Amino acid sequence: MDELFPQLPVIIGHRGACGYAPENTLASLRKAKELGIEWVEFDVKLTADDALILFHDEKLSRTSTGRGKVAHMSYADIIGLDVGSHFSSDYIGETAPTLVHALDFIVQANMRANIEIKPCPGRVLPTVMCTLDLIKTHWPSNKPLPLLSSFSAVVTDYLSEQAREYPRGFLLKRWQRGWQRRYEGSRSSALHIHHRALNSKRVATAKQTAQYVLAFTVNDPERAKELFDWGVDGVFSDYPDRIIAAS
Ligand code: G3P
Ligand code: MG
Repeated sequence: MDELFPQLPVIIGHRGACGYAPENTLASLRKAKELGIEWVEFDVKLTADDALILFHDEKLSRTSTGRGKVAHMSYADIIGLDVGSHFSSDYIGETAPTLVHALDFIVQANMRANIEIKPCPGRVLPTVMCTLDLIKTHWPSNKPLPLLSSFSAVVTDYLSEQAREYPRGFLLKRWQRGWQRRYEGSRSSALHIHHRALNSKRVATAKQTAQYVLAFTVNDPERAKELFDWGVDGVFSDYPDRIIAAS
């Protein structure tokens, strides 16, 4: 595998560039492109009828005009919802993109993608299997593969068996005892960890296990600088341009 991040530190737009546009929408991916950001992260879930869509929460209510759970909705239900107006009236009418829409945009914009596989409960294996199938049919063979990541050990274990050719991120919210053993078992390429779980000693420890250590979600440029000084290789940010300007 080619080096994943030839230039460090890497600044990854979080859920697109969700400080500026509604998270996990094409508008948010477009905003990241406008800001000159190469890498974007977004979250992927499966609808009841097996469509892959960009969506963060299990429930619809925080970021859409819908109620109930993503896992209980068909794609036709979801596409009828507004996922922009919760952010601002400028985005009324924005709809949840499918993973196909997002990948098409990423390819056409010549960007790099971190697909965070965030399955709804009870939908773990179908979500990861559908994601891999879809990338196989939609991703150009001459482009570096997307970085796949997940908090779900079932997903990262599955990927370690079935998707070894992909760069893979191992997500942690907290500094859990013994994470290194699980990380090594998953044969991941990068540790993606909440920035509040880190201090200088832990970054040094993490770098003994993980080739790359990336921290989420960092919106304060001073905090980003501190993390980079400790050896963190990159950050996810809702305002990626602010981090770039200060780094
Ligand atoms: O993938 C990094 C980050 O997105 C993980 O947390 O909750 O924002 O998906 P979350
Ligand atoms: Mg995410």
